Amino acid sequence: MSLSQCRLDRFISQYFNISRRAVRLMLAKKSVRVDGLIATEIGQIIDKFSEIIVDNEILQANIPSYIMLNKPTGVVSATIDDKHKTVFDLLDAVYLPDTSKIEGLHIVGRLDLNTSGLILLTDNSRWSQRLTSPDKKVAKQYIVTLENKLTDEYIKAFEQGMYFEFEDITTRPAKLEIISDHVAQVTLVEGRYHQIKRMFGRFRNPVIKLHRSSIGNLHLDENLKLGESRFLTTDEVNNISKSMGN
Ligand code: URA
Repeated sequence: MSLSQCRLDRFISQYFNISRRAVRLMLAKKSVRVDGLIATEIGQIIDKFSEIIVDNEILQANIPSYIMLNKPTGVVSATIDDKHKTVFDLLDAVYLPDTSKIEGLHIVGRLDLNTSGLILLTDNSRWSQRLTSPDKKVAKQYIVTLENKLTDEYIKAFEQGMYFEFEDITTRPAKLEIISDHVAQVTLVEGRYHQIKRMFGRFRNPVIKLHRSSIGNLHLDENLKLGESRFLTTDEVNNISKSMGN
């Protein structure tokens, strides 16, 4: 049985084909564990990633999938597209040890068509919501190549934030480090539409190349060529979860 969200008693009564009253007794006997904790509320809401064990029998142990992909330019961050290849088309073409794990994935955040670099996919929507939530302020780093020369003025302007009239917001403080005359590393804690291009647009300085190198403390694996992907390791999942405050 798979589910998006439902009550614990409903799940267990359907699994064993028993009454909800019988489930209540199981809980009273402390026989049910959800995510390692003894369940006490029959109405507890569970989802497809909740680990459910009754008297040492594992009823559900769905382990979510987390994938990093090195997105090339010219590929869209979407499920389907008429004109361009999507990141999902790349996954199909790539060796991943367990292809069944690709089912049900969605993209965590987006990169523009002409942006390359780190993009994440998962089937754990709770995780992706936390990672993209503006409240979590997860830092994203980009390497930006510009047409015109950079000056120290940019550093202050990025730090101060810029007013975007269309959304009626001021961007959160962003860090700009000058790497060379035409290359900067920019760290954002939000993801407004075309944010980096618009910020450099204020200086009438077109972005020639934009590449995302990290999200939180997760760096794009240097061994992944453009278009290649791999599953995150358990350590990487645990570490990036720390960037979100848990
Ligand atoms: N800022 C942009 O302008 N484009 C991206 O893809 C990401 C950040």
